[in-house]
Amino acid sequence: MIYKLQKSSLKEEILQEFQRCRAKTLTLFEGMDDATFRYLAHADFSPAGWHLGHVAFTESLWILERSAKESCLYPQYRQLFAADGLPKHERVELPNIEEIYDYLDIVRKKVVNYLEIADLEDEEPLWRFLLQHESQHCETASIVLQLINNQQLSLPTPHSQFPIPHSPFPIPHSQFPIPGLPEMIEIPAGEFQMGDNSINALDNERPMHRVYLDTYYIDPYPVTCRQYKDFIEVGGYTKPKYWSECGWQWLQKANVKQPLYWQNNPAKDNHPVCGVSWYEAEAYARFVGKRLPTEAEWEKAASWNPQRKLRNIYPWGDEKIRNMHCNHNHEIGTTTPVDAYPTSKSAYGLFDTLGNVWEWTESWFDGYKGFRYYPYVGYSRVYFDKKHRVLKGGSWATRPWVLRCSFRNWYYPEVREIFAGFRCVKGGE
Ligand code: AVJ
Ligand code: FE
Repeated sequence: MIYKLQKSSLKEEILQEFQRCRAKTLTLFEGMDDATFRYLAHADFSPAGWHLGHVAFTESLWILERSAKESCLYPQYRQLFAADGLPKHERVELPNIEEIYDYLDIVRKKVVNYLEIADLEDEEPLWRFLLQHESQHCETASIVLQLINNQQLSLPTPHSQFPIPHSPFPIPHSQFPIPGLPEMIEIPAGEFQMGDNSINALDNERPMHRVYLDTYYIDPYPVTCRQYKDFIEVGGYTKPKYWSECGWQWLQKANVKQPLYWQNNPAKDNHPVCGVSWYEAEAYARFVGKRLPTEAEWEKAASWNPQRKLRNIYPWGDEKIRNMHCNHNHEIGTTTPVDAYPTSKSAYGLFDTLGNVWEWTESWFDGYKGFRYYPYVGYSRVYFDKKHRVLKGGSWATRPWVLRCSFRNWYYPEVREIFAGFRCVKGGE
């Protein structure tokens, strides 16, 4: 009896999370015109509308086909919306948005029916994976919409404006730099627990394992626009001495002079730099005589509680993430000052580790010892190619379902369209 009750409350929770996540997804597409829905804003990013169809397709594939053993709904969408179906530039011939809304609804109704009889003992990780999958595609759609906003003036016809969030949450205010805070925070030598074994952990976070690190020093904040301006002004983008060989080669081809989302607005001085490639982050770190943190260095400083000798899910502890904790979930709709959430500091005293901007790390994306893929090889393992760098922490557009210290994102080092900045370290190694 008690067992049954627990089980149905778990199903209730999953259902609620699915509906909450979907409602948030749909707000991104509210009032979007057809040109925007199918617009290829960048060769490496599918149109925003594709992500919506892919979310429905993925839910249908994993719940209806693979778990409920039903046959494929809308087999004509398989090639278009499967991750390995078409190259990105061929993903522009999309059904219209109403058809995709119907697709989402029809799949979701069947999924909700199946949840009643699903064996969550077995399938709970899959359902939690799907929440996180949808969350990640929402962020990618946000990136595409941001790129469209930035290109607005040069587009043949005007597109929908990126939705302005209607947040009841006041934009926090900044007093940066906070008096008395050291320039860098010492993280004393010792072991910590890296990764996560909990039910929400994705395949690449598993298994949790102990890692020893020597003493190192880490920036309390992500690098701010004010700080990065110095690098631009000394000619950082024109002097090879700051760049690695790969970085310099990239720069010659990319021919950029500032971060992609650079605003040159004194009101944004205390906001983190946003829209840099890994190479730009690396060059800035050299400019200030520092380096980028390894993923382990970032994760220890964000999640380890040295007094209690245990890892926290979030920098502030294990209390479930809410809007007031950090700038995420599109609640504010842009970056905020790096000191805007002082009560969410990590145990070591780092600000702004979750939300605001993703942070590039030195580390290549790879599996931890004992890695086993889930639910499919193509989620993580095909990217263990020593060509992708790990990013941590999430951005102002990241959904709460993927915000935690152990979560791992990965991109090629030349990508600068994502909402990414960085912080630096010294010593260690
Ligand atoms: C981890 C964000 C790089 O969007 O390509 C989505 C996540 N994997 N569907 C991506 C993902 C499969 C992935 N990133
Ligand atoms: Fe996907």
